[in-house]
Parts: sequence; structure tokens; C-alpha cells
Amino acid sequence: MPIRTIIEPFRIKSVEPLHWTTREERGRSLRMAYYNLFLLPADEVLIDLLTDSGTGAMSTHQWAAIMEGDESYAGSKSFDRFRNSVQGIFGYRHVIPTHQGRAAERILFNVMCKKGDVVPNNTHFDTTRANVEFVGAEALDLPVAEGKQPSFVHPFKGNMDVAALEEVIGRVGRGRVPLVMLTITNNSGGGQPVSMENMQAVSAVCRRNGIPLYFDACRFAENAYFIKLREQGYESKTPKAIAQEMFQLGDGCTMSAKKDGLANIGGFLCTNDDVIAQQEKNLLILTEGYPTYGGLAGRDLEAIAVGVEEVLEEDYLHYRIVSTGYLGTHISDAGVPIVQPPGGHAIYLDARAFLPHIPTEQFPGVALAAELYLEGGIRSVEIGSLMFGAAAKMDLVRLAIPRRVYTQSHIDYVIEVILEVWKRRERILGMRLTYEAPFLRHFTARLEPLPTTDKSVESQFPRGLEG
Ligand code: F0G
Repeated sequence: MPIRTIIEPFRIKSVEPLHWTTREERGRSLRMAYYNLFLLPADEVLIDLLTDSGTGAMSTHQWAAIMEGDESYAGSKSFDRFRNSVQGIFGYRHVIPTHQGRAAERILFNVMCKKGDVVPNNTHFDTTRANVEFVGAEALDLPVAEGKQPSFVHPFKGNMDVAALEEVIGRVGRGRVPLVMLTITNNSGGGQPVSMENMQAVSAVCRRNGIPLYFDACRFAENAYFIKLREQGYESKTPKAIAQEMFQLGDGCTMSAKKDGLANIGGFLCTNDDVIAQQEKNLLILTEGYPTYGGLAGRDLEAIAVGVEEVLEEDYLHYRIVSTGYLGTHISDAGVPIVQPPGGHAIYLDARAFLPHIPTEQFPGVALAAELYLEGGIRSVEIGSLMFGAAAKMDLVRLAIPRRVYTQSHIDYVIEVILEVWKRRERILGMRLTYEAPFLRHFTARLEPLPTTDKSVESQFPRGLEG
């Protein structure tokens, strides 16, 4: 029998101790943080699944490259290595470094969009949407119907609805669509991939209409690996060859190197258009920095240069996708409702199905996230009614897995905590807001559990500060 156990494809050279807390301490921390996990000090968290962005562990090769960082203001050697590495995969003529993904977005939309324009995307991430809207354009989400149903299993739920794209271009006119975007993988839609076939179809529509296609490439390697696993004709191609093929279908990209760049900070903006690139570099100089560093240190450019190559290694991607799926499969086999199938970087709990007794205006996602923290010190993030208000189509709790940070026993612990909360789900209380900011309220909102007359529930779940 061949060996079937999949192990982490690395050994650990440097460790960071975890900080344990008691249930009483966590109850107190929750009250102090007004039941909003963004407001928790990180050292009160045992397993931090708030985000997979900038939270990964770097390799020995990356740390070694960091020592080679050339901190020259202009013409740094580290920039050459960064550009060569990025071009080897992405293939675009111009590579503009930025301090993270949203800086690339801000520059891109400032240069390419104006008031009244429409930017179609499979699903905009929240910073992407905010940057499109900031220049007065409309951010339009065009996911396929399969992508909107949490429990529906489909290999490429991240796909764009191509017929809807054609309809939009026909209706508003190509002159009002300065670019089309594809987010790979589709973070807001559950970390789901886009198929090569869909990318080809979107690219063909764009080329026919003379509209540039840009990728939001944050998790490009995970998307490439899903194509290898799930799409006919790609079984024997390398993830790198698949990534190169994807990017050839577009005209540029934005990238947060904090995800599939395997770096703790950084990003970039790519384009094949010389005129656009010049305008982008001019804006870059205004707020980010000179075009050979773009707001990053030379050592950051080195870490990214190595990271974008390492992330395409098959051993790594196999472990990454399988280990995320391990969490999803174990809890869904026990009946816990999740977005199906498991995504690349995260598992999304369906809080409306988990807590059907809590109406959406009582924030089932916030209640569930608070319970996971109380039970086992796990920090997750609500993506639902608190984040999007009445516009929320789903109430999800995202468990994002930092890259190369936690081992299988950490994940076994997470599974156990989720199943404990699942057992006592009927006794979990809804929440009410006690403070909200006028925009992006989820970062600073204050909440408290609703009052109850059930004494056993009251003791399980401590009330607000004044309670
Ligand atoms: N696009 C996508 C699809 C993202 O997921 C993110 C960040 C960005 C753009 C912006 O990149 O953070 O480097 O400015 N997502 C993080 C998350 C914050 O937790 O999902 P950034």
C-alpha cells in the first residue's frame, strides 16, 4: 500500500509560543472587546484565523534573500530580482511595486476609471469595491448562479457569468467599461476558483469589445492548483505553466503579496500598456515611492521574489489545498453547514444555517464567531450582516488559514472546538449593536448578547460590560 498520510512539507526551525487563556479570561476579553474580535489584543488569541493576509511563515530561502536586500533608493538590485521573478510567472511588461494590494487598486482605478464608469468583476473584494467607488465608478459583481448558494457543490463557483457580462457591456456601452476584473480565487464568494475555460470566455468577450482584462491575482497559485485538480487537460501541467497560461489571457493585474506572495507585506500592479504604466508610475511617486521600491524596503522585494516562486511548488500547493479541505470535510461530515466545496485559503461557516433561531438582524455570524473564541480562543471573522448591513446575502464566519503556520494538530483542535459549539448551538444568543461607525462599521462596532431569562444560557455566555 502506498503511504497516504499527507504531511506538512517543511520542518520547523523557529517557533513562536502560543498564549493560553482560561474560559473566564476569554469571557472577560470578549466583554472588553465588545464582542468584536477585531478589538481583541492578538496575544489573547490562541489560534488566529482572522486572515491569511500577511500572516504566513517565510522560508529559510526567503529569510536568506532578505539579508541580500539592496536598500538603494533608485535602481536597486532587489527590484531587478523582484521584477524578473514576477515577469517569469505573470508575463506582463510593466511591474510596479506597491506596499500592498489596495495601493495597487487605488492607482489602477485612479488611472483607468472615471465617474459614471462600470467595472464588472466576478466578485469585488471589499477594498477593491471601495477603490472603484472612490473614483465615482460602479463596482458590479457578476458571479455565476452556482456561486450564490453556500451548500451547492460545483468545481468552479468563482466563475463569472459571461452572458451577464455581455449584457452589461451591450447595455451601458463599451465606452463606459474601462476594464473587466477577475478575482482569483474569489475571496468574497468563499475562496472558490475560476476555471481556465471561464477565463478564456471572459477574455474573448473583453478582446472582442476592446476592453482590457485585469486579474485580482491575490491567490493565483491556489487557483492554478484547483485548475490542475479539477479541469480536464491540465492534470499533467505544472502550476507555474497554468499560472502563465491564465495571465496571458489578461492585460495586467493587481496583487497582494501578503497572500500568494508568501510575504508579510507588499504587492504589485502589472500592465502591458506603456501609456497607462507611465501614468501609474507618476501616481506611485506621489504617494508610494520611487518605481524601483514603491513603498517597500529592498528586503521586502527579495522576500516576494522568492515567495511567488515557492508558492507554485506542487508539494506546497498539495498540502495547502488538502489541509484547508481537511478542516472543511471534518466539520461538514459532522453536520456543520459550510460553504461547499472547501475553498483554497479558508473555510466559511454558514451562520444562518448553524444558528437558524437567530434572525439576521441579530447578527448570527458575530454570535458564532464570539462563541468560537469563548470556547477555544479561536479568532475568525464575520462576513455578513455586520460587515455589509442589510445588503448581506449570506451570514458567514470565515476561518482563514495562514500559510505554513499551523500544523494538523492545531487544526484538529479547531475542529474539536467547532464541534463543541455545534453541540450547544441552540442555546447561543443573538447580538445587538451598542455602537456603530458611519462606514466600514465592522472594524469598530460594539455589541452585546441579547438578554435572556434562561439562567443556564446566561452563565454560558457572559453579558456586556454593564450586564
Ligand atoms: N483583493 C482580494 C481578493 C483580497 O482578498 C484582498 C485582501 C485584497 C484585494 C487587498 O489586499 O490587504 O494587501 O491591501 N484580503 C485580506 C483578507 C485583507 O483578509 O481577505 P491588501
